[in-house]
Amino acid sequence: MPAVDFADIQGLARFGHGRLRAAEFLLLEVAAPDAARAWLRSAPLTTAQLRETPPQTALQVALTADGLRALGITEATVSRFPQPFLAGMAGEASRSRRLGDVGDNDPLNWQWGRPAPHVLLMLYAAEGGLDALMAELRDTNFDTGFRVMRRLPTGIARGIEPFGFVDGVSEPVIDWDQTFTTDLHRRLGYANMLAPGELLLGYPNEYQETAPAVLAEAAPGQRATDLARNGSFLVLRQLHQDVRGFWQYLDRVAGADPAQRDRLASLMVGRHRDGRGLIPDHENIPGGRSGNNFTYSGDVDGNVCPVGAHIRRANPRTGDHPAGVSGRWSWLMSTLGFRRRRDGLAGRHDLVASSRFHRLVRRGREYGSRLSVDEALLPGPDEERGILFVCLCADIVRQFEFVQEAWLYSARFDGLGGERDPLTGARTPLPDGTMTDHYSAPRLTGLPERLEGLPQFVTVRGGAYFFMPGIRALQFIAGA
Ligand code: HEM
Repeated sequence: MPAVDFADIQGLARFGHGRLRAAEFLLLEVAAPDAARAWLRSAPLTTAQLRETPPQTALQVALTADGLRALGITEATVSRFPQPFLAGMAGEASRSRRLGDVGDNDPLNWQWGRPAPHVLLMLYAAEGGLDALMAELRDTNFDTGFRVMRRLPTGIARGIEPFGFVDGVSEPVIDWDQTFTTDLHRRLGYANMLAPGELLLGYPNEYQETAPAVLAEAAPGQRATDLARNGSFLVLRQLHQDVRGFWQYLDRVAGADPAQRDRLASLMVGRHRDGRGLIPDHENIPGGRSGNNFTYSGDVDGNVCPVGAHIRRANPRTGDHPAGVSGRWSWLMSTLGFRRRRDGLAGRHDLVASSRFHRLVRRGREYGSRLSVDEALLPGPDEERGILFVCLCADIVRQFEFVQEAWLYSARFDGLGGERDPLTGARTPLPDGTMTDHYSAPRLTGLPERLEGLPQFVTVRGGAYFFMPGIRALQFIAGA
């Protein structure tokens, strides 16, 4: 197995740069290819190497397929990248439908992303340090090479997303030393460890496979360069959050009772606002960290954490087998198809697949001004605030699109009927007209608690698929 080459990997794959609390993302068009390449060749990119003194600033670069073309990479080479990256996030109506980019989320309504930008430049600095970093950029020939299509400023990172919940609690731990087994027969339970190949191209993934190289044509007599190696796909989505709408709806259904309002909000997320899981830590998961040492195997029906809660949809944690399967005997019975099905939920068994093949490394930041719950309960305009959702993965379809489509957006997730993610879901009806604007939380006794008429709280404002190349690959691209 190749050792992970941190010096050739952009830092964002390993660090969230959380210490650098100020950040801005720039969406760029290549205005003059020669000048753009020259700038990229000398851009002080942050690598994934650990440094004794952590840097005061960080810079990361990612490119779309059009960006590669604009920088002079031949079509023969670009076409070796996977199809979803080439098609782009907003490039096909069928993809938009699958991702839930319909209705208000339709790319036709986006503020950016159509056409896709060429380059994403991510700037990070300590609080107050961003202007100096921008000024440094401007001192170089940056302005000649690129036109800034859009600036995406973020708020000062404090680890709380705009609805008011602590964010960034559950992150997979990358097994950089590649010592944790990925063997299906030896991984019987849920683990929070992830093979580097789930994040970076060029390393074995959870299937023990390595993604194909993307070989760039070389000059005669030279070895072809693998543009994929040490790179990751980067998904960026600007998700507007209607914070007033969220808290005012909950306040209404809670009869203006603050405790009840908070309880319903936590049932939607699956965590309390301070980040504690509805299911407290009670297991010792490999790679599990405080606040994250739990699975749903003791709560198969979702009596404690509803099956449809955001964090349960985003990572059902059932390991390699569905909820309720634990131990070798149960695993064998499940594998052979003898597992008993639960009443009324025939087929549920297959609906939640092994979560380790669908993990995401999240690197997003919130944007816009903050609003406390008390402020959100007062009337006022729906200002622009939300999350610049960023995730890194090695396979856009198997990871980001699967989570977004089959888990968050699906109205039939894990045997549920006609409801989507209560937090992020579009509320468009199903093709047969069934409404999807409700949310149900089972109760130990009696009928499930059911919230009706859920407004849509999150709207997509823009998005694109990028490739964050390794340092050598970027040098090749910049010298092409
Ligand atoms: C505005 C939109 C969103 C909001 C407000 C939001 C909020 C949250 C919150 C509060 C948590 C719990 C804290 C944590 O575990 O880090 C969380 C977890 C998570 N979210 Fe989101 N999220 C949003 C969009 C998305 C999207 C679009 C995806 C994926 C396509 C996603 C994937 C995840 C994942 C994978 C987790 C961790 C689940 C776990 O491992 O337990 N989120 N989110």
